[in-house]
Amino acid sequence: MQPFSSLPGPVGVFDSGYGGLTILSKIRELLPQYDYIYLGDNARAPYGTRSFEIVYEFTRQAVHRLFEMGCQLVILACNTASAKALRSIQQHDLPQWDASRRVLGVIRPTVESIGSVTHSRHVGVLATAGTIKSESYPMEIHKLFPDITVYGQACPLWVPLVENNEAMGDGADYFVRKYIEELLRKDSRIDTVILGCTHYPLLLPKIRQYMPAGIRVVPQGGLVAESLKDYLRRHPEMDERCTRGGTCTYCTTEAEDKFSESASVFLHEAVDVHRVVLG
Ligand code: DGL
Repeated sequence: MQPFSSLPGPVGVFDSGYGGLTILSKIRELLPQYDYIYLGDNARAPYGTRSFEIVYEFTRQAVHRLFEMGCQLVILACNTASAKALRSIQQHDLPQWDASRRVLGVIRPTVESIGSVTHSRHVGVLATAGTIKSESYPMEIHKLFPDITVYGQACPLWVPLVENNEAMGDGADYFVRKYIEELLRKDSRIDTVILGCTHYPLLLPKIRQYMPAGIRVVPQGGLVAESLKDYLRRHPEMDERCTRGGTCTYCTTEAEDKFSESASVFLHEAVDVHRVVLG
């Protein structure tokens, strides 16, 4: 018996917290016609320092919930979840739940663009400890561009700064500069730095301030949006299963008013929020 509705539904966008909003806004800019449900697991964020098993379990619960809400397609707008849970969900859970549904991540679309951006062929990745430890970026980059040298730097305090609405606060400067300097100490030939965490664009003004001139900073939102557009063009059967009403529903595992207050800072508009319980 199929547990989910087979009717067309909104595109699901999942993140551990607010970071996925940076992806969602780029997706909605490019593909405003679809309906979306955003789910932030704010009550359990950050994921970046959690174990493989826990990130997989939390992400699995969130994707299942988005399917229950009618989504046929879910984007993991979270690098940590893409690194630690995407493959297991695709290979293990989808065939059991409903093999026609799809879950897509953010690492592959980001990596695909890198070959044409770097000239020195030395690339840096700033991401959560979990994403760096998973080695997903070097592995994916080397599959497509074996000649590129990749160095990663974990930035464990950047997500808490964003989640606590301190991204533009004075305290953020110290840790933004620290992790950039640590990355560039590992390899002075880096000319391109991937922001491999969807929370980091919210720190972009400070990241640009401390990144030496001449180093290209690559946020993911636009790349993921373009890749989704291309995916839906290549998969008309999935495109038909995505409803078009131009709406967006926001869900969080935290208190609604807390999400609404912080999200409005990032989205520059007031949003209506629903609380969901996972697990
Ligand atoms: N925004 C997420 C990412 O892209 C996760 C951050 C976290 O929860 O630590 O990795």
